[in-house]
This record gives sequence, structure tokens and C-alpha cells, in this order.
Amino acid sequence: MPKARVALVGCGKVAGIHAAALASLPEAELVAVCDISADRAQAFAAKHGGRAFTDLGALLRDSRPDAVIIGTPHPLHAAATIQAAEAGVHVLVEKPLAASLADCDAMIAAARKGGVTLGVISQRRFYEPVQRMKRAIDAGKIGKPALGVFIQYSWRDAAYYTSDPWRGKWDTEGGGVLVNQSPHQLDILLWLMGPAAEVSGSWANLNHPTVEVDDTAVATIRFANGGLGSIVTSLSQKPGIYTKVHIHGASGASVGVETDRGATFIAGVSQIAEPPVTDLWTVPGEDSQLAAFQAEDRAAFGRVDATTHYHALQIRDFLGAVRDNRSPLVPAEAGRAVVELFSAIYQSSKENRAIALPMLLEEKWTVWRTDDTGNTFLVRGNLTREEALRTVAEFESRGHKQTYFAERATR
Ligand SMILES: NC(=O)c1ccc[n+]([C@@H]2O[C@H](COP(=O)([O-])OP(=O)(O)OC[C@H]3O[C@@H](n4cnc5c(N)ncnc54)[C@H](O)[C@@H]3O)[C@@H](O)[C@H]2O)c1
Repeated sequence: MPKARVALVGCGKVAGIHAAALASLPEAELVAVCDISADRAQAFAAKHGGRAFTDLGALLRDSRPDAVIIGTPHPLHAAATIQAAEAGVHVLVEKPLAASLADCDAMIAAARKGGVTLGVISQRRFYEPVQRMKRAIDAGKIGKPALGVFIQYSWRDAAYYTSDPWRGKWDTEGGGVLVNQSPHQLDILLWLMGPAAEVSGSWANLNHPTVEVDDTAVATIRFANGGLGSIVTSLSQKPGIYTKVHIHGASGASVGVETDRGATFIAGVSQIAEPPVTDLWTVPGEDSQLAAFQAEDRAAFGRVDATTHYHALQIRDFLGAVRDNRSPLVPAEAGRAVVELFSAIYQSSKENRAIALPMLLEEKWTVWRTDDTGNTFLVRGNLTREEALRTVAEFESRGHKQTYFAERATR
């Protein structure tokens, strides 16, 4: 079977993990890499292989990859995804899927239109202790998942935020601990509890005065299944300590995972030091297995390079999904649900009220004009649908020669 031709967009820290993961997969090869910095792209290609590009359009044209993996800063995920999807190339995007719901919708629409598979990285779903929870819940071992708890106590210092110019700013990162460090566990929480129906939350910046964004957030969730949830996530606790997702069932039995512990892991900077483990298991008749599960988890951690192994498992699943024409384990819609959850927490904090999900997206429309030569120009943006249609009618009634049309904006 021919190897899947994969390209990486963004040659920064997480891209190194993807390159190592790809190198470990016999079914894939890295054919091209792209970064706006020519130096970075070339140095990365020299180290990991593939042709170096600074322009994604040129990469798609010249290297003809089957799939691209996008590892650029969050607000830039959408543009690259849409460009690749329009070229008929499958896309696996680093978390979070995007920084806004409008971007998520534009990406999902572009993937549907282009007939390509769109997935989002959430490699902790592939952790054995997380899979163990999912199997137990699906088998009905805790009854209805009734109470979902995610806590993360972690730490980032000022140097972390200055390490790349996009970090710590609303415009270029899209948010703080909720957007960057929490999507993994928010995804696990939603995967195990089901969709959220209502969210109340607050965020704060407790001890990072040099950055704009949240370093801490708390929230409560009412899930569509009637269950409740609680989130406490913080980068304000020295040193990075632990991150857990616990699911308590209506039967009174509980399952849980400690996804992260000990030294804070930063991709491309540090290695994962402690194994993810099952840390709570009160399934009737199985409670005595907690120690055995933990021993299994520690042994498994010793057999793999945990920093790259779970990315490799997810890339394998994604390429398998493309090959077999099935959904990947973490489809774009799951990434959208995470973006909706953190967007609802920000909105709840801003408006001091509970936010019902699904969130209603305020649609933005744009009016364009096409001249005799076929060139298209922006007339007015940021309009409601009604304003846009009125604007088109108004210009048309003036008898201009150009053609006017309204379109839903993708951002
Ligand atoms: N799954 C994980 O565990 C994990 C870990 C770390 C980072 N991430 C995610 O990966 C993404 C990148 O994070 P990072 O730490 O690697 O950041 P980084 O700053 O190290 O790398 C980003 C790279 O993108 C390049 N870039 C910027 N604009 C570009 C464009 N338009 N086209 C091509 N390249 C462009 C930058 O020059 C830089 O080299 C983020 O979405 C982040 O949340 C995921």
C-alpha cells in the first residue's frame, strides 16, 4: 500500500512532535513542510525531511500531499484548513480546532465542500486510562454519567509567554488557559459526559500581569443528559501539579484519570515525565483492580515515548479514517464542541449569566461588487443578513453597471 503523503504547516514546537510521530509510522511519509519563516522551514526540513515552503499554496500545488497537519497559532488554523480543503487535501488540525466558533463553522463547511476529512488533535483520548473510562461508561458500568469534574492545577512563567510573540494576547492566541491548555480535558469531559446544554463560568488573570488572557477559569455545566459538570483550570499554581478528569455515574460508581502530573509538560521544550494513570475506579466488583490498572499504566508508559506516541496513534487513526472513508476518532465536530464550551465560558463571564448551548452564532454578512472585468471588491462588511440584502437592493436600484451580491462572512 502506498504511504500517505503528509505535509506539516507551521514548523514550531508541536511540529517536531508530529515529525517524530510520522517517522514512527510505516504508513506515512513527511513530504513537505511550510512556515512563514523561511529559516524555520529550511532548518526543519533539513532535520526531519520533506521539501521546505513558505507558501501553503505552492506546497499544495508542488508537493501534492494527501493530508496536511496544521500546527500554527490558533487564530491561523482556519485559513490554512480552508485553503487545503479547497485543494482537496485532508486536514488534521492541532488543538483547539480554532479560536472562534465562526472559524470552526467555516472550516467544517470547507471540508464538506471539498469532500475531505477534517480532524482535530486530542491525543489524550488515546491514553489507555481514558480509553478504559470510555469502555466502562459505554458498557453501562457506572450508569448514566451524572457528574463530570475536570481540574487542572498547572503553571506557566513569564518567560513562557514571551517565548513566542503570539502567546498571551487575545488577538493572536484567542484566549489563555481555556483555549490553549484546557482543550484536551474539555474534549475528554464532553466525550465521556455527552454534549453540554448550559454553561456558567468566570475567568481571571490571577498572577500573570504581563499577559492579557485568562490564567484561571472556573465553570459549571448542565449536560444534555441532565448531568452536571465542574471545571477548575489554572496556570497560576506553582509548580505544575496535576490534571484530572473524574466521571461519577448515577449508580454511585466513579471512574477517573490523572492525565498529567508532576512537571508541567510543554511541547518541544520538555518531555512528559509522569505516566497518565487511572486514579479512581469504584465500579462494583472492580474496585480492587485500581492498583493493577495503575501498574499496567506505568508499565505501558515505560514502553513508549509518551511525548510522541499518542500523536502517532491519532495520526494513524486519522489516516485510517481517510483510507477507510470513516470518521476519525476525534472529528472536527468534537473540536467545535470544545470551542463552543470555552466560548460559552467567556461569554458567561462577560455577561454574568448562564449561556444555553448550542450557542446562537451571530451571522455576519458581506456585500461585494463585481466589475466588468470580473474583479470582485468589498463594498461593506460586518452586516446582518437583512442589512446586507438591503444594501444590495439599494445599490442595484441606483442603476450601477456592476453586479452586487451578499455573502455570509466566514469570520
Ligand atoms: N497537542 C498538543 O499537545 C500540543 C502541544 C503544543 C502545541 N499545540 C498546538 O500547536 C499549535 C502551535 O503551537 P506551537 O507551540 O508549536 O507554536 P510555535 O510558535 O512553536 O509554532 C508555530 C509555528 O507556526 C509558524 N507560522 C505562523 N504563521 C504561519 C502561517 N501563516 N503559515 C505557516 N506557518 C506559520 C510560526 O512561524 C511557528 O514556527 C497551537 O495550536 C498549539 O495549541 C498542541
